[in-house]
Amino acid sequence: MRGHLSLREEGEMRLRLLISREEIERRVRELADLINRDYRGKNPHLVGVLTGSFIFLADLVRLLTIPLTLEFVRVASYGAGRESSGEVKLLLGLADSIEGRDVLVVEDIVDSGYTADFLMKELARRNPASLKLCVLFDKPSRRKVPVRIDYRGFEIPDVFVVGYGLDLAGRYRNLPDLYALEEE
Ligand code: PRP
Repeated sequence: MRGHLSLREEGEMRLRLLISREEIERRVRELADLINRDYRGKNPHLVGVLTGSFIFLADLVRLLTIPLTLEFVRVASYGAGRESSGEVKLLLGLADSIEGRDVLVVEDIVDSGYTADFLMKELARRNPASLKLCVLFDKPSRRKVPVRIDYRGFEIPDVFVVGYGLDLAGRYRNLPDLYALEEE
């Protein structure tokens, strides 16, 4: 839902390394340590938000030693224009019941907060035993609605970022580091 740059603008843009793969790896390990500690004795259900979170979730779960299950949801925002209207809808919902489960939502980025706000409210209605949010990249300067983040990787400035799962018009998700897209 985060604001998108158009492909036309991309020609005048260059990638500037913002957070290296080593820094990301170190921080993901720290988050995993916290989650392993907090969920000891539990069997959490992780919910990844497509598509951006797929790399973070994949790296995170391989560092988790607690028994867990996971699945993905897909959300979409409606309204024309580059900025989100704030209207969010579930396109692909949960296949599994989360009633009584300890649910941990895993997001790559929180920008306006519309997606996370919508999803957390939607999941809360399904009576999980607990519901928390883990976010790798937090951009608080862009927030339109407040979001409570339980596990936060990095606070990042208000720049358009790609890599480590994040895209520009579908591209760059495969880059192992996080880059800022800047004007030439
Ligand atoms: C990104 C990201 C979050 C959302 C955050 O998804 O993965 O889900 O935007 O932005 P928000 O806080 O302003 O709602 P996007 O809609 O770009 O889809 P993608 O994950 O498929 O790239």
